[in-house]
Amino acid sequence: MKVLVATKDLAVFDALQGIDGLEYGEALFTGQIYEALPGARLIIVDFDDLVEHPYSVGMLRGILSDSDVPFVSSEEFLSEPDAWLMEARRLGGEATALPTKRTIAFVSYSGGVGKTVIAMDTAAHFARRSELPVCLLEFTYGESAFGALIGSEVPALFELATQPDVDPFVWNGVTLVPMDYDNSRDLSIQLLGKYLKDVMREHVLTVIDAHWPHALIGAVRDEIDRWYVVCTPRPDAVDNAEKLAAELGAKAAILLNQKGGMVDSLAMQGVERAVELAVEKDADRWSGKLGKKVLLHTYGQGTWGQYEPTGFLTNLRRRFSRSKD
Ligand SMILES: Nc1ncnc2c1ncn2[C@@H]1O[C@H](COP(=O)(O)OP(=O)(O)O)[C@@H](O)[C@H]1O
Ligand SMILES: [Mg+2]
Repeated sequence: MKVLVATKDLAVFDALQGIDGLEYGEALFTGQIYEALPGARLIIVDFDDLVEHPYSVGMLRGILSDSDVPFVSSEEFLSEPDAWLMEARRLGGEATALPTKRTIAFVSYSGGVGKTVIAMDTAAHFARRSELPVCLLEFTYGESAFGALIGSEVPALFELATQPDVDPFVWNGVTLVPMDYDNSRDLSIQLLGKYLKDVMREHVLTVIDAHWPHALIGAVRDEIDRWYVVCTPRPDAVDNAEKLAAELGAKAAILLNQKGGMVDSLAMQGVERAVELAVEKDADRWSGKLGKKVLLHTYGQGTWGQYEPTGFLTNLRRRFSRSKD
């Protein structure tokens, strides 16, 4: 049985030593605790001792509260260690591997290729399936596309970054930070970067919808793990995408959107692409058909596959893990 020790209190380590069948790991970074959660049966945690990297303590606390793994402070644990260890043995622990922290950006020189629709579908699908925190940021010129697509006025970047009492709108479980470029351009990259990084600390996945180039992208550029350069199967769009992917370097991959029939296959010959998406009738109804493929690429079948109810085994595992609470 694995116990996570997230405290500076050495008495906890003394109490755990020499217990049969018990394995304990130290974890003082918020990210270490998050990553070790699947497989852990008990977490002894003093939240004041934690290093907020890469998540805030508040965000970690929320995830622990939603998980099946019991957690306890060092003081509470030390007052009755045997009772807590018994409780840990009794409870099931977390069954699924959790997706790791990622920042992915959809980007292209040209408009109309599907960046916004794919970004929104990916974020909404992540929220629906994993129920973990996800945010959606935008780097655009002119009007925000998010507000128009969800059909309501929502607070945008300038207001959010300058007024601490204004909270982002949450759309289908997704924290939205739309861009109002005409206002946001007056803020420094440093200030924007600080605000956006604070937002990202509260979320497992950050999805970015970005026009390229963008004057403010420097605020988050270093944080991006994966650039999906989006293109449709038109020869000029493909040329542009290959140029942009080369410019962005090793973290860039081409995402071919709205793939059609034979002609498209010919146009795309020799073009290396990481993800292919078909034309979907309900692309702007957030069914998750687009997002699912992106998430399988980002996290791999092994991790994200667990969140997709594809077959008998998955359903059985879900039912089993639920019946244990
Ligand atoms: N895979 C797809 N299937 C069907 N329609 C799509 C698909 N991808 C994009 N679209 C549609 O194409 C149009 C442009 O997409 P959008 O996301 O606004 O592009 P961008 O953000 O790159 O300008 C929208 O009407 C969108 O619904
Ligand atoms: Mg767009």
